[in-house]
Amino acid sequence: MKTLDQVERKKIPLMDMVAQYHSIKTEIDDAIRQVLEAGQFILGPNVAALEKEVAAYLDVGHGVGVASGTDALVLALRALEIGPGDEVIMPSYTFFATAGAVMLVGATPVLIDVEPDTYAIDVEQIAARITPKTKAIIPVHLYGHPADMTAILKLAKERKLKVIEDNAQAFGAEHRGRKTGSMGDVGCLSFFPSKNLGACGDGGMVVTNDAQIAERVRMLRTHGWKKKYFPEMIGYNSRLDEMQAAILRVKLRHIEEWNQRRRVLAAQYSELLEGTSVGVPAEGPDARHVYHLYIVRVKDRERVQRELKEQGVPTAIYYPQPLHLAEPLRHLGYHAGDFPVAEQASEETLALPFFPEMSDEQVHGSVDVLKEVVG
Ligand SMILES: Cc1ncc(COP(=O)(O)O)c(C=O)c1O
Repeated sequence: MKTLDQVERKKIPLMDMVAQYHSIKTEIDDAIRQVLEAGQFILGPNVAALEKEVAAYLDVGHGVGVASGTDALVLALRALEIGPGDEVIMPSYTFFATAGAVMLVGATPVLIDVEPDTYAIDVEQIAARITPKTKAIIPVHLYGHPADMTAILKLAKERKLKVIEDNAQAFGAEHRGRKTGSMGDVGCLSFFPSKNLGACGDGGMVVTNDAQIAERVRMLRTHGWKKKYFPEMIGYNSRLDEMQAAILRVKLRHIEEWNQRRRVLAAQYSELLEGTSVGVPAEGPDARHVYHLYIVRVKDRERVQRELKEQGVPTAIYYPQPLHLAEPLRHLGYHAGDFPVAEQASEETLALPFFPEMSDEQVHGSVDVLKEVVG
């Protein structure tokens, strides 16, 4: 017969978006009903209001809602007129969309290894890869930890490069007191449901202090026109829809509390894992980490993951392959061994159950099993 402890363990989810809905159900239900009753589903008042609210939260001049974080990157690159023949520097260890967006606009991703403790682009290695074709750097604030924006902005200024922050995973994170996404020429946000600020579907936003860039993104998201039916460039149909914007406006009111809870849970995990062979995430001295994911490093990951699963603790792997070994980049001529830190991360990282509504007991439960499994 199973003990109560074992039954409880079985209930730990990897993340739980339904729990979040229940915690703010009345507000969400009201917001959805209001959109249904207003009957305006594309680019309505909630999109306009959310753009202003997000811009105010991040302390930037403009926000433009788009259909996804991937589209935010594509439209930002297009707005900066980056395309065929141009090179864009980025980390080799990130979600594929960062490189995919660069390739979708016809430009070439130039990859750099990452820092072993924060997984952010290794700034020391950037200068050597800058060529006359380099147009921009895309730092990725991976897992919720900010890249070293002070160094990146300094280098970009010296070498006249644009900076596009991939802030898909770090809504609310800070570098030296400034919100990530607000420091580069453009910031790209994703509202994918599991993100710190997540919609109930796809969504994204481009944020910037540059009115011209904002205007171009606004045109690009609707077929390249300012005046309806009179396109001035080839654009997209890439709008954040009104229902998602209404939901996100509700959630934005709770983001500080949720990010704070993420920080508390992460601290608990790290404390409980102290003295074990499990590597816990770092937080740099200039950083406010918002723990989009709680990522540990383990040896023998396949076995650890399998045994955790058998004992009711689900985990996930972000990401099993660094970009330089991904099929769509094969023609760029990278090889195994080119970026050892990224490669090791892709072999060792493991995301533990983690979401703001998680209980302290669930953290303890996950750690108890993990400790047993790693021995
Ligand atoms: C680092 C990073 N960049 C870009 C994206 C793309 O965002 P989306 O899934 O909203 O297109 C994601 C999200 O999945 C991401 O994690």
